[in-house]
Amino acid sequence: MLAQDDHFRPQYHFTPPTNWLNDPNGLVYYQGEYHLLYQYHPESAVWGPMHWGHAVSRDLVNWQHLPIALYPDEYGLIYSGSAVIDWKDSAGFGKEALVAIFTHHQERQESQSLAYSTDRGRTWTKYAGNPVLLPADGQRDFRDPKVFWYSEHGAEHWVLVLAAGEEIQFFASADLIHWQPTGSFGKEHIANFGFWETPDLFKLAVGEGPESRWVLTAGVGKNGIAGTSGMRYFIGDFDGQTFTSEYAPDTVLWVDHGADFYAAQTWNDEPRGLRLMLGWQNNWQYAKVIPTTAWRGVFNLPRRLSLRHTAHGIRLFQQPIAELTALRGPQSHWQNITLLPTQNLLQAVQGDSFEICVEFRINPSVETFGLRVRVGDQQATTIGYHVPRQQILLDRTSSGQTGFDPGFACVHSADLEPIDGIIRLQIFVDRSSVEVFCNDGRVVISDSIFPDADSQGLEVFTQGAETVIKTLDVYALSPASFTQAEK
Ligand code: FRU
Repeated sequence: MLAQDDHFRPQYHFTPPTNWLNDPNGLVYYQGEYHLLYQYHPESAVWGPMHWGHAVSRDLVNWQHLPIALYPDEYGLIYSGSAVIDWKDSAGFGKEALVAIFTHHQERQESQSLAYSTDRGRTWTKYAGNPVLLPADGQRDFRDPKVFWYSEHGAEHWVLVLAAGEEIQFFASADLIHWQPTGSFGKEHIANFGFWETPDLFKLAVGEGPESRWVLTAGVGKNGIAGTSGMRYFIGDFDGQTFTSEYAPDTVLWVDHGADFYAAQTWNDEPRGLRLMLGWQNNWQYAKVIPTTAWRGVFNLPRRLSLRHTAHGIRLFQQPIAELTALRGPQSHWQNITLLPTQNLLQAVQGDSFEICVEFRINPSVETFGLRVRVGDQQATTIGYHVPRQQILLDRTSSGQTGFDPGFACVHSADLEPIDGIIRLQIFVDRSSVEVFCNDGRVVISDSIFPDADSQGLEVFTQGAETVIKTLDVYALSPASFTQAEK
């Protein structure tokens, strides 16, 4: 077991053994293991020359840290990218090779390169012919390749999608080595959002199917929903060559409405056919100055994605993976409680790592109801629902340490309509991490907080009139296990 000694270090979210972590990379499943590679700086808790760190898991909850997979070399730093299993040995690297496709970053040029492993990701060899894909037009920003196998409408080939400044570009290949440009998307959607980063592209059923859509996700460098970098998504079609959006540029959809969800990627070859997404729980605005020392960077909980019809059109829904229920410990349960404005039902419950499942019945006389977590002396993080405005909000203005960045002390909110008069929340708190899944994942808000170690109180509140709580469950969650591979 690694020492989990610092009171900000989450207990069931993935953090690096030491030092700096950003984007998830190379997410792929092979022979019983989910691989998680990631942007890693092994020498410092501040971003620096990028390597790919590596870990594996059988259940996406408990992880084994493996040695660093990729080191910088003469072609540059190792920026973000993805990984595939080359089932047909199209590249000639060996039977069922695990192939990483990543960006080699240099000050004036970014290019795509390959590395492969034929021993389940334990050792990696860089391809001798690197780089394999250079920008045609001298474009400086040309990075974060996500590769997957496309097999539809009689066509079969690899697809690579990457971020090229204000464009997202698509390429096709038969062998992972020779790439042809096939299209681009996004210039008309970039507006004042700066530039694209870390795109992903996948097909999802709508509801139970058979209807389906392609979903394109991508980070934007600025003016995200929480004011900083953020993840957008598009719904539309991909014909093997290029993506077209169903919505005009004035429909802007966000994967997460908090500040701390970025550079997300989904797993290739998930054995159950699920689409599982992992984000970096941080933000470029303050990533380098958050108040942790031995480690800096954490991933959000993995989420299962789906599409559903809503009154506003087809939308992305996200739910925490079911495997997390294995961490549930002692449970406190209430049902059909009429909560009064002066009452705190949760007086006897304490903790810094727990899950809350709650259903509130809307009372039009109430202004705001909700919960306060990590409550201490003059300190709390509020998850509230504003009834007249029909908005969910996360207020971290008094959450603990906030002074390290002028924009950190803020409130994040999102529109959320009740369903049959009910607001349903599933909330995960893990020391410095708060993730709120609303109405079965229609809206998610993820935010980091830095409270005092002893701020462990919990409150449920209603303001203006009473609120009926249909059900309320609080589960203490056990730490996940993070082990080090034997040498
Ligand atoms: C996104 C990003 C990527 C890049 C990586 C560098 O967070 O900026 O575009 O590849 O981080 O660490």
